[in-house]
Amino acid sequence: MLVDGKQHKAIWCNLSTGQVFVIDQRHLPHSFIINELATVDEFVFAIRDMIVRGAPLIGVTAAYGMAMAMNEDSSDENIALASSKLKGARPTAVNLSWAVDRVVACLDCLPPADRPGVAIDLAERMSQEDVKKNIQIGRNGVALIEDIGRSKPVGEPIRILTHCNAGWLATVDRGTATAPIYEAHERGINVEVWVDETRPRNQGASLTCWELQHNGVPHKLIVDNAAGHLMQHGMVDLVIVGSDRTTSAGDVCNKIGTYLKALAARENGIPFYAAMPTSTIDPDIVDGLTEIPIEERGLEEVTNLQGQLDNGEIVSVKICPNGTDALNPAFDVTPRHLITGIITENGLWHPRLGAFS
Ligand code: MRU
Repeated sequence: MLVDGKQHKAIWCNLSTGQVFVIDQRHLPHSFIINELATVDEFVFAIRDMIVRGAPLIGVTAAYGMAMAMNEDSSDENIALASSKLKGARPTAVNLSWAVDRVVACLDCLPPADRPGVAIDLAERMSQEDVKKNIQIGRNGVALIEDIGRSKPVGEPIRILTHCNAGWLATVDRGTATAPIYEAHERGINVEVWVDETRPRNQGASLTCWELQHNGVPHKLIVDNAAGHLMQHGMVDLVIVGSDRTTSAGDVCNKIGTYLKALAARENGIPFYAAMPTSTIDPDIVDGLTEIPIEERGLEEVTNLQGQLDNGEIVSVKICPNGTDALNPAFDVTPRHLITGIITENGLWHPRLGAFS
């Protein structure tokens, strides 16, 4: 997608030099900084410290990380070591282990000398596949937006609420929840996006607003607690969120606060969709509440806020009394009975009905 009018991806590889680059998302929206990841430990750090984040992007980053590990040492021992380091970087997004396992399965049967070349080719293919899947998610999801548009008065925008950043920055390109929105915008459909700020790390405010702004999609930032009020007043037509892990029965785990939006949407009769590649669906689990590991993050994300002063300095400020204790679960689970449907690259899945369309 566009950054200052220029096409960008969230991760890319210079195939002639083997160098892998990412956008350092810790500095957005204030600075656009590109980092090179040169060792497997740098890939692990990039995922853990959220230089890159978002389930599909974490997966592709880990695939490139495995390729980098094979450049360092392509032995069986190093396959095991690198895969366990990468998989341990963050617990919730299943795309991480899905991607690492896919690379490992491909390397295991090869002689060590062949592994570096095959691993980088596979990582590159996974990166390209991610973009293709997201384009297809957009095409499959735009029909929902078009349907709503048919019942709106001429000239009124279709108002879509999204949570966190499930945009192109959370994938290689295009995004998942944003893919139908970008598709609609490019088809000339009048859409407007409500962006939840998404405490504690504010990925909505800092990342979703940034990418929508750079791509010319009308949007407004709201505080997390405003969504219910907007829904009660008929100001939300559709909710689309992403997912970090979805069970085989259709329970959706996504950024903390997603569940509350789904409850409010149900109460107000608003369709609530999750958009994801099928690699986010964990075939091994059924019950999201008991089977998905929920990441707990540092308490300073809750007790402090990071932002930019008028003089450009980035600061972190305390918002509670010194010594305040806190709790910081990063994700929650929205049970399938609150979900209208799941938009995938293969079509629309209706977990409540047990059907695909
Ligand atoms: O903690 P983050 O920023 O990695 O969380 C990201 C989300 O919750 C996204 O909604 C999810 O990964 C889907 S991304 C297409």
